[in-house]
Amino acid sequence: MDAYPNEGQLDHEGVVTGNVEVARDCWRMEIRCPELARTAKSGQFVMLRCRQGMDPLLSRAFSICDLLYEDGEPVGIVVLQLIIGVGTQALADRQLGEPIGLLGPLGHPYGLGTPDEHLVMVAGGIGAAPFALVARALRERSPTQRVTYLVGGRNADYVYLTDEIAELGCDVQVATDDGSRGHHGYVTQLLEPLLEPGVRVIACGPNPMFKSLAVVIRAAKERGLQIPCQVSTEESMPCGFGACAGCVVPVVSNAHPDGFRFAKSCVEGPVFDVEAIRWDLMRSIH
Ligand SMILES: Cc1cc2nc3c(=O)[nH]c(=O)nc-3n(C[C@H](O)[C@H](O)[C@H](O)COP(=O)(O)OP(=O)(O)OC[C@H]3O[C@@H](n4cnc5c(N)ncnc54)[C@H](O)[C@@H]3O)c2cc1C
Ligand code: FES
Repeated sequence: MDAYPNEGQLDHEGVVTGNVEVARDCWRMEIRCPELARTAKSGQFVMLRCRQGMDPLLSRAFSICDLLYEDGEPVGIVVLQLIIGVGTQALADRQLGEPIGLLGPLGHPYGLGTPDEHLVMVAGGIGAAPFALVARALRERSPTQRVTYLVGGRNADYVYLTDEIAELGCDVQVATDDGSRGHHGYVTQLLEPLLEPGVRVIACGPNPMFKSLAVVIRAAKERGLQIPCQVSTEESMPCGFGACAGCVVPVVSNAHPDGFRFAKSCVEGPVFDVEAIRWDLMRSIH
C-alpha cells in the first residue's frame, strides 16, 4: 500500500455558501474553505459536522464532488448529498453563511492512469458524487483523452451529474433499474461492451454494484484482458482517520492464515483495487 497521502492541517472551519436541492432528496452544498480546496484530489473525501454543537456527535463522510474557483484558484468544495438519516437531514437544513467544521481532504485519491487510456467512470446512485472532480482533473490534464461516464440509478430521479460531466466532453451513458431512463438494467452491463485493451475503470457506488463489477473484471481477465480497476468504498465511517475500526473491509492477504485481513477503509482506502477486496466476505448492506 502507498504511504498515507494526507498531512498537515486537516481540521478546518469552512463557511456554507450554497445549499440547494438539485434532485429528489439530493442536496448540493458549497463550502468555502480555501486551505482544504487547494490540496483536494479526485476520489478523496471530507468528514462534515452535520450541525453546530454536539448532536449528532459524529461527523459524516462525503466525497469531494467538485471544487469552487475564484480567479482561477480553488477556494472551496462542492458536496452532493442524499438524505438518508439524521445527519444528512441536518446538513440539508444548513443555512448560507453558517460556519461548518470539516476534516480533510482524507483518503487515497483515484489513480487516473495516463491520457492515452480510455478512462471509464462507473457510478451507482449517489456514488456519482466524486466524478465531477475526476472529469475536471482529467480535462485539465488532457482535453482529448477519451472519457466515458456510466451512471446507474434505481430510477431516473436517482441519476446524477450527467449534464455536468457531458459538458466536460465525456461520453455519458445511463442505466436505470426500472428502465425510466437509458438502459433498462444494471450499469455494469454498459461496461462489458467497452472492455478492450487500453481501458481503465474507476467506480463508486453500493457494494452489490462492486460485486458485479468484480465479476465482469474477473471474466475479462480469464479471457486474457487485464483491466485496471479501482473502486471507492462507502463503508460507514465513524471517525474518518483510523481511530475506531468502524470502517473495515476484508482485503486479500497471503500473510494471514485465512487469506484475508481487515483494512481500515478510511486510511487504506476508500479507493482499493477491485481485486484487493474479498467480495465474498463484504457486507451487502450498502
Ligand atoms: C468515503 C465516503 C464517501 C461518501 N460520500 C458520500 C457522498 O458524496 N454523498 C452522499 O450522499 N453520501 C456519501 N457517503 C455516505 C454518507 O456518509 C452517509 O449517507 C451518511 O453518513 C449517513 O448519515 P445520516 O446521519 O444521514 O444517516 P444515519 O442515520 O447514520 O443512517 C441512516 C441509515 O442509512 C444507513 N447508512 C449509513 N451509512 C450508510 C452508507 N455509507 N451507505 C448506505 N447506507 C448507509 C444506516 O445503516 C441507516 O440505516 C459517503 C460515505 C463514505 C464512507
Ligand atoms: S472510520 Fe474510524 S477507523 Fe476508519
